Amino acid sequence: MNNALHEVFVHNIQDIYNSEKQLTAALPKMRDLAQNPDLREAIGAHLSETQEHVRRIEQVCRLLGCGTGNVTCQATTGLIREAQEQMQEFAPGPGGDAAIIGCAQKVEHYEISNYGTVIEWAKQMDHDDVLDLLKETLKEESAANEKLTKIAEKQVNEAAREAQPVGSGASLM
Ligand SMILES: [Fe+2]
Ligand SMILES: [Fe+2]
Repeated sequence: MNNALHEVFVHNIQDIYNSEKQLTAALPKMRDLAQNPDLREAIGAHLSETQEHVRRIEQVCRLLGCGTGNVTCQATTGLIREAQEQMQEFAPGPGGDAAIIGCAQKVEHYEISNYGTVIEWAKQMDHDDVLDLLKETLKEESAANEKLTKIAEKQVNEAAREAQPVGSGASLM
């Protein structure tokens, strides 16, 4: 295929590939620092899904006849940096868990946006072969996001509200 949309599509698929790769490297630390058992389980389960997302994007690249490329997803780098910063600032505990959920949900929303975009482009260009793979991942990103919302609403937000501040900025408040 030789059109501007296809070119942009391939770039964004390669960008997503790099994003998923960065996330497989970053999620173990978030999982290990999470103190709430359900949160730890949710991040661990999504780490396995994320490893599958990498494989799916590799499959998409094979079907499109492009390589996985050499793109760096700057947004993911930034989101991971922010998560690292907050995990340093807020010690493991209820507050740290709330921070981890907030950072993890930024990532999931970003991924939902990415997959939504490339799914629309794939539809536009009749790339039916890759559509199901992309939709399957989008479903898992949405489910992961909803699971995090439930853990926040049912457990972590209240626990953090009841806990003493521990952040490095806490003494200034
Ligand atoms: Fe993903
Ligand atoms: Fe995800």
